[in-house]
Amino acid sequence: MRRVTSLSLRNANPAKTKADAVVVGVVQRTAQPKGRRKATTPPGKPEVELAPGGEEVASAYGRKLAPLLAALGVTGAPGETVKVPTGGALGTPLLVLVGLGKEPGPDAVRRAAGAAARVVTNAATVALALPADSPELLRAVTEGWLLGGYRFADYLRDTASDSTEAGEVVVCSPIARRKEATAALEQAQVVAEAVAGARRWVDTPPGDLTPPTFADAVVEAAGDLASGRKPTVSITVHDELALEEMGCGGLIGVGRGSDAPPRLVELTYDPKGATTHVSLVGKGITFDSGGLSIKPAGSMKEMKSDMAGAAAVAQATFAIARLGLPVKVTTFLPLAENMINGHATRPGDVLRIYGGTTVEVTNTDAEGRLVLADAMVRAGEGDPDVLVDVATLTGAMVVALGDKVAGVMGTEAVVEAVLAAGSSAGEALWPMPIPEEMKQRVTSSKIADLAQHDAVRWGGGLFAGAFLREFTDGRPWAHVDIAGPSYNSGGPAGHVTTGGTGFGVATLVDYVRGLAG
Ligand code: BES
Ligand code: MN
Ligand code: ZN
Repeated sequence: MRRVTSLSLRNANPAKTKADAVVVGVVQRTAQPKGRRKATTPPGKPEVELAPGGEEVASAYGRKLAPLLAALGVTGAPGETVKVPTGGALGTPLLVLVGLGKEPGPDAVRRAAGAAARVVTNAATVALALPADSPELLRAVTEGWLLGGYRFADYLRDTASDSTEAGEVVVCSPIARRKEATAALEQAQVVAEAVAGARRWVDTPPGDLTPPTFADAVVEAAGDLASGRKPTVSITVHDELALEEMGCGGLIGVGRGSDAPPRLVELTYDPKGATTHVSLVGKGITFDSGGLSIKPAGSMKEMKSDMAGAAAVAQATFAIARLGLPVKVTTFLPLAENMINGHATRPGDVLRIYGGTTVEVTNTDAEGRLVLADAMVRAGEGDPDVLVDVATLTGAMVVALGDKVAGVMGTEAVVEAVLAAGSSAGEALWPMPIPEEMKQRVTSSKIADLAQHDAVRWGGGLFAGAFLREFTDGRPWAHVDIAGPSYNSGGPAGHVTTGGTGFGVATLVDYVRGLAG
């Protein structure tokens, strides 16, 4: 995350603020009917104007603004950034214009603030004068800026550029003095920190983030939380011996082929007065080689990200606790490394999941559902009101929805609530069905209770959903397949940087916020 020494909220005039740079949005005006087009706009160019928040900057330039924007070729397209030396026109030497497209709502503002964070490279103090006249927009500005500036530099020799990072950030907002505004800023910081924490875990090389070291990192993060005033998160780690004894056959079976043994991490946040209990489960495969059903090299290279679900649910739990939300949360992280050695599980083996259900393994690369099954049964023992699992589960979901959108399956009301939380959090999720035929397909094994995988090529993401449903005990439940959006293998875009994205954290926090009423 962008390292910020102070983030403050002020109803400041961005044209007069003393800072090294000021960031202002640009919107594309909906085109006027032809005859009424203003003469200042060259034909064929979209009309642009400064977005709300930039009024004072616009009036400081006055009539010089339109020709300046035209000369710079500013289009206001989402993601566009233009640096303008102000030559004394403003209190800051640098004006940074960021495109918001046609609708300067929270999603566009979050992306624009993220893009701005990466182009402002040489400023100690920055004023953000983006649209921020509601708590939702303020949240978007703050999260966008903090996350767009995320960098993973732990393994870089040269981190000298750190010194140019803006330490002092002023978020300009007309509602700065309202309580909701201060709260929105604080909440956004908590969420951004949690998202960045998830990104860091995903970005950490898989040789350094194994099930035991990942479990240690989660313990450490839970400990850091305890230094605050808010109710804390308690944590239990079950090692491989405990897992054997408990009968967690999924975790043991998947983890057998690795020298790094599996773990099951359990987190509990149980605030006074909680009336609802949510259980979160996150897939934590620290590296997925596919096992004996080995992946081709091209599909394996990003498989350090196969623990993104576990990272997301753990960080969401910490954020929920830091925000003091009045909901009980019990969180389960089944951690294993899917590797190959002489002990590795074979296609044809039968595993006994925690609680006794047997599963015939036919493809060792469908390992996520096996470790999730143990954890979901375990979660059910706490009798939660709702169960939500988050997993980089299937390539089929990426084929269906692309790499930016997560698929959601489960019981109707929970799915609806998770989708609603996604739209307020600025994450893209889409509902997927579990067709009737899947029940018969997951129970088609001749020698075990369930088939882990079948020969039918189509609907792999939905089959996986149907398989997991067998371990929900009929409880209200949502399964979120984040195989696509959990990792960005392309360049940075808006607040989403390259590598781990922390997808799911913000949605889970908003989902639980919604349950808090
Ligand atoms: N971790 C993968 C799914 C995945 C694919 C995540 C692409 C992120 C990007 C999962 O364990 C897997 O290998 N799934 C198989 C299932 C199949 C063997 C039934 C898949 O999708 O090919
Ligand atoms: Mn796999
Ligand atoms: Zn996997």
